[in-house]
Amino acid sequence: MKISNTFTQQFDIQFPIIMAPMFLVSNLEMIKAGMKSGIAAAFPSLNYREEGELESLLNELNAEQNNSRGRYGVNLIVQKSNPMYFKHLDICVEKKVPFYITSLGSPEEVIKKAHSYGAKVLCDVTNIVHAQKCFDLGCDGFIAVGQGAGGHAGNNPLLLLVPALKKAFPDRIVIGAGGVATGDAITSILALGGEGVSVGTRFIATPEAGVNDGYKNAIVDSSMEDIVMSTKISGTPCTVINTDYAKKIGYTQNWFERLLSKNKKTKKYFKMLVQFRGMKKLEESVTSGSYKTLWVAGKSSEMIKEIVPCVDIIERLKQETFESLAKLGDLVGD
Ligand SMILES: Cc1cc2nc3c(=O)[nH]c(=O)nc-3n(C[C@H](O)[C@H](O)[C@H](O)COP(=O)(O)O)c2cc1C
Repeated sequence: MKISNTFTQQFDIQFPIIMAPMFLVSNLEMIKAGMKSGIAAAFPSLNYREEGELESLLNELNAEQNNSRGRYGVNLIVQKSNPMYFKHLDICVEKKVPFYITSLGSPEEVIKKAHSYGAKVLCDVTNIVHAQKCFDLGCDGFIAVGQGAGGHAGNNPLLLLVPALKKAFPDRIVIGAGGVATGDAITSILALGGEGVSVGTRFIATPEAGVNDGYKNAIVDSSMEDIVMSTKISGTPCTVINTDYAKKIGYTQNWFERLLSKNKKTKKYFKMLVQFRGMKKLEESVTSGSYKTLWVAGKSSEMIKEIVPCVDIIERLKQETFESLAKLGDLVGD
């Protein structure tokens, strides 16, 4: 069985789930599992920073694409402070990446280049104002990033953000992101008028995820109360597990850091520095057994109780969605 709507049709997939791009977590194995299961699977280009790495990964995924029921896509951080943005975009266009997810800036260049060969572009948005800018630039749809999402979570609940986007932009795809880890949650987004969901945190607790076991177990052990917002990683508020180390370093930048990030002359370079330092800290946390643990995760950790292979998670989500749709149908009576 499959679900068919404008998202699945335009993206040529069987079920309306995106395996969300996750810095330092997403990898080839996970993307292959997503494609095999008939969903859309995305990864951040910044996971492949060495010379030639992104090209060879895209070659492999393009070869895989022909025998798969799903699609892969690339997430680009479209911010001036991302030094690899334009280089990565050119590589992706040359390799004809099927779809893009843009975050944290203007998606103008991505939309122009992707549409030149028929690829799709979804833009991460947390409010209608940013969505309007992406709409004006011609995006194909939005990822509505709501409260509780892993990473740069939004302020607005999906219960409002999804229908508000749908009302403002009825002919664009709207995907709900933040807190989705069950079929019931998928059904709720579809009921709100969204065309699909983007799921991140659930896929960290998998054997395939490219992070250490401490991180995976921390997801399993954390409840929603254990997830806090911190500006220590990138300057932008980001959700992390409230480990002893997160508590020790605090959750906000100090006054001097805030000053440097606001001053016109220092802003760009300071942001680059903060992001570079944040990346290094995250890298240490996810690979080595360092006690300096900064682990990014969303509040859906509440619903994650075991480490399960990606394919099994996706099959479970599909099954639960069909069950939950049927269960709601049963409520209707005379
Ligand atoms: C560990 C982690 C890393 C992330 N890295 C990125 C990233 O590099 N780029 C991006 O656009 N979003 C990133 N996100 C956000 C996800 O793409 C997605 O919006 C979010 O995980 C959805 O919420 P959920 O975690 O509640 O499922 C990240 C999320 C997590 C949990």
